[in-house]
Amino acid sequence: MKGIILAGGKATRLRPLTLVTSKQLLPVYNKPMIYYPLQTLLDAGIKDILIIIAPDYSGQFLNLLGDGSEFGARFSYIVQKEPRGLSEAFILGEKFIGNDNVTMILGDNIFLQQDFSQDIRNFNSGGLVFARQVEDPQRYGVVEFDKNGKVISLEEKPQKPKSNYAVVGLYVFDNRVSAAAKNLKPSPRGELEIIDLQKFYLDKNELTVKIFDGIWEDAGTFDSLLRVGNIVAQSQLTSSNS
Ligand code: DAU
Repeated sequence: MKGIILAGGKATRLRPLTLVTSKQLLPVYNKPMIYYPLQTLLDAGIKDILIIIAPDYSGQFLNLLGDGSEFGARFSYIVQKEPRGLSEAFILGEKFIGNDNVTMILGDNIFLQQDFSQDIRNFNSGGLVFARQVEDPQRYGVVEFDKNGKVISLEEKPQKPKSNYAVVGLYVFDNRVSAAAKNLKPSPRGELEIIDLQKFYLDKNELTVKIFDGIWEDAGTFDSLLRVGNIVAQSQLTSSNS
């Protein structure tokens, strides 16, 4: 299993913070944001990790993370010149993925006290994504289930969500993903959408959606960044008191 951390993009929503560094390097309590998704991959036993970054501040990622040896892992880097969509990661990463399966995590998605290692280790083929109940599903990819729990639809940021289950930014795909990504057409907002890759596997009846209820934040807004920083601070306080 190979790993990708997608840490590019322009993060205009977090300006002026992101005029001096990348969103994924901003502090979440006592660590740069990217440490959290990195830890999620390392916890799942993934050691060979491609980090996709934007041209701005790319040197800062190298200074911080280096070749991965400090983390007991091996890091490679690719610069994504323009944010052409999440699915472009699998095109840029095609050679890196080679003949393996791949787990991609978004560089601003933070999972706390959540262990995906069994699910990732047991993955064989197809697609595996994770969904969680949220109060604001229109911000996310939304999955609709029938009464037997079977997935019936997937929609990116729907104005009228058919459920309150958001697909979170952790995706496990088999080796067909790069070819599938190359066949995608950009959406009306001009991006290669990750939801379309999930639909590729859903159409073949090969998509598994696992529901979980652990702590998860997409730290891409001021409010969520503050919230997750406070949660981390609180959990460290609790563990140092116990
Ligand atoms: O957080 C989970 C959500 O992530 C999913 O529910 C959605 O289905 C998925 O599309 C995505 O939505 P976002 O609105 O959070 O995507 P965003 O454009 O903010 O990009 C997510 C991260 O990926 C962000 O940290 C920047 C990075 N990125 C984004 C794009 C479009 C790149 O590195 N390259 C890109 O081309």
